[in-house]
Amino acid sequence: MKKAKIIIDKDFILSAIDPRVYGSFIEHLGRAVYEGIYQPESPFADEQGFRKDTMALVKELQVPIVRYPGGNFVSGFCWEDSVGPKEKRPARVDLAWQVVESNQFGLNEFCDWSKKAGSDVMMAVNLGTRGVAEALNLLEYCNFKGGTKFSDMRREHGYEQPHNIRTWCLGNEMDGPWQTGHKTASEYARIATETARAMRSMDPDLELVACGSSSSHMPTFGTWETTVLEEGYDAINYISMHQYYGNREDDSASFLANNVDLDEFITNVAAQCDYVKGKLHRKKNINISLDEWNVWYHSNEQDKKLEKWVQKPHQLEDVYNFEDALLVGSMLITILRHADRVKMACMAQLVNVIAPIMTSDTGAWRQTIFYPYLHASTFGKGTVLNTLVQSPLYETKKYGEVPSLDCVAVDHEEHGELVVFAVNKDLQEDTEITLDLRQYAGYGVKEHITMCHENLKAVNTEENPGEVTPRADGVSKVEGGVLTAVLKSKSWNVIRLAKPDSCGQ
Ligand code: AHR
Repeated sequence: MKKAKIIIDKDFILSAIDPRVYGSFIEHLGRAVYEGIYQPESPFADEQGFRKDTMALVKELQVPIVRYPGGNFVSGFCWEDSVGPKEKRPARVDLAWQVVESNQFGLNEFCDWSKKAGSDVMMAVNLGTRGVAEALNLLEYCNFKGGTKFSDMRREHGYEQPHNIRTWCLGNEMDGPWQTGHKTASEYARIATETARAMRSMDPDLELVACGSSSSHMPTFGTWETTVLEEGYDAINYISMHQYYGNREDDSASFLANNVDLDEFITNVAAQCDYVKGKLHRKKNINISLDEWNVWYHSNEQDKKLEKWVQKPHQLEDVYNFEDALLVGSMLITILRHADRVKMACMAQLVNVIAPIMTSDTGAWRQTIFYPYLHASTFGKGTVLNTLVQSPLYETKKYGEVPSLDCVAVDHEEHGELVVFAVNKDLQEDTEITLDLRQYAGYGVKEHITMCHENLKAVNTEENPGEVTPRADGVSKVEGGVLTAVLKSKSWNVIRLAKPDSCGQ
């Protein structure tokens, strides 16, 4: 058995966790909205047409914030088409996904849905085909109390009270040539800064996210960020990052190491923010909104065959396997290990489209990646401790030697709980970890949840939704103030340690 050592100290705090790092994303894309969260004709629909089975799973995930309505979709979106009486809403061409959007579900329905789900809204404005004026009109519609054209329009539509949306994305992936209205860094810096300033004049305390890079591999990465930050530093709060990974070469060792790239990406973006902060002699920090992240590749080939200009096609319907769940667990650990800079993160997406939740006409089920996300959002609360991991290494084609163990410790002092999240990526051997509990005197193991499977390609389906599920069967103990735990080869682990009076609860 391999051995690893974890070192933490109660006072060695990295950062409080912003709960919004467990956010998600609903785009008008494929069956995310239609048949995902909204299907009035379904036996599962509530009085507003929202699917109750999906809603129950979203609530289980405790999603604090949901980004909407895109994604690439937003860069052609006319929000006015999505409000008012449904029978008067026009169907529109969606260039981003080459489909037809019916607009039968829109802005107000999404705000209602989010409220029911217990989530805040992260709204994106269209800076692809539109600009400052339309963003301002949308803000007036959503947040202004009344007595003006667009706020009164909202009231006529049955929403007397403003939606009071606090977090706004200034466009989407504007660095990507695939984006409708794609811009150069300086073109985007200009329009994003103008839009941010104008939006702030109406509502000064908004949280504004400027587009960063669509992945760490974009040719403009680095100069894009510094150009946008130099122009917009005072007007924005966050810069975004997007990152997806795939396993196209069927090289599991390299695939599982992809969070090494995410780690570097976050470190670099934080450095770019700080470079501009120094250059401009500013006091405030710009933080990171990792507002799209996940595994995405399974559906790429089948999507090439889809018919165009239809409504709600089965698009981006990745069926996630066990190794995807392991990488998602590792990506969550990486996000937490950067909790001092990553303040928002959205797993992309939430339902049916590269999602933890899938639906059919007969029900909803949890994909493999549902579980690490669930555990992180449920137990990953409080503060992240600087977690020193002395891990064995393994060789990968893509990244050379990398640690086989990812780990982070979270102190949820309010609940008297210390939670250790860990992924053992070793494809052959178990790893025994030890952790000196130092100031956590008296803490014992309350629960050690594991998710393991012999077959890295195992999936959950509607017929067999329980193929890959977590169990509270981990082997761990505290003796002499030291935690010893066996992390199975290929496993996701959540070790919950608690004060004696709360163990066994
Ligand atoms: O999440 C799917 C797509 O990925 C989004 O629309 C886009 O922003 C990104 O390229």
